[in-house]
Amino acid sequence: MIREGKLDELREIMECVHRVRKESWKRYEKEYYPGKALNSDLTNFNEDRVREIINSDLRFLFVAEENKIVGVVHGMIYGESGYGMIHWLGVDFKYQNRGIGTQLLERVFEYCKKRKIHKISLYTFPVLRKAINLYLKTGFVPEAYLKKQWWGVDFILMSKWL
Ligand SMILES: CC(C)(COP(=O)(O)OP(=O)(O)OC[C@H]1O[C@@H](n2cnc3c(N)ncnc32)[C@H](O)[C@@H]1OP(=O)(O)O)[C@@H](O)C(=O)NCCC(=O)NCCS
Repeated sequence: MIREGKLDELREIMECVHRVRKESWKRYEKEYYPGKALNSDLTNFNEDRVREIINSDLRFLFVAEENKIVGVVHGMIYGESGYGMIHWLGVDFKYQNRGIGTQLLERVFEYCKKRKIHKISLYTFPVLRKAINLYLKTGFVPEAYLKKQWWGVDFILMSKWL
């Protein structure tokens, strides 16, 4: 089931994000994204951060629930400008390849349409093949290649026009 994240599950949401990010780093990113960058991202994504996201009218956070939280997508919209960003998407490795990532993105598109968003973007890494495939399948296109962006690492900006 895909639904909005709730204030009484801040810890569970944070833990799911940390779990998937750490596992993804171990499997795909460790030669690419510095460990100190990962640690900084994890420190910033704490319970207070999750609370801020859930409480903000300009931010969204959806979870996938299979008895427990197994996937999260979150991001923000820029006021009334019609532009939005997905900040992160992830699904527990045991629950991948069942359509959950796709469903989380579809939920974001539905939210965006309601909020009259005409374009949504995200940053990803070239090493995240599964994620890039999923974004291409759901209508994102690579819009820019950002050479040595944050932490001296190359990022890909992908966007979808709704
Ligand atoms: C990228 C990610 C979110 C995808 O999540 P997911 O739940 O596995 O995504 P889906 O199941 O919707 O789609 C993945 C694949 O499963 C296939 N699939 C979808 N539903 C399926 C089903 N019911 N049965 C079998 N396969 C299915 C899809 O066609 C897709 O196949 P492909 O890899 O050949 O394109 C997940 O791999 C992840 O969390 N990765 C680590 C973190 C990460 O990279 N995040 C992105 C940061 S930018």
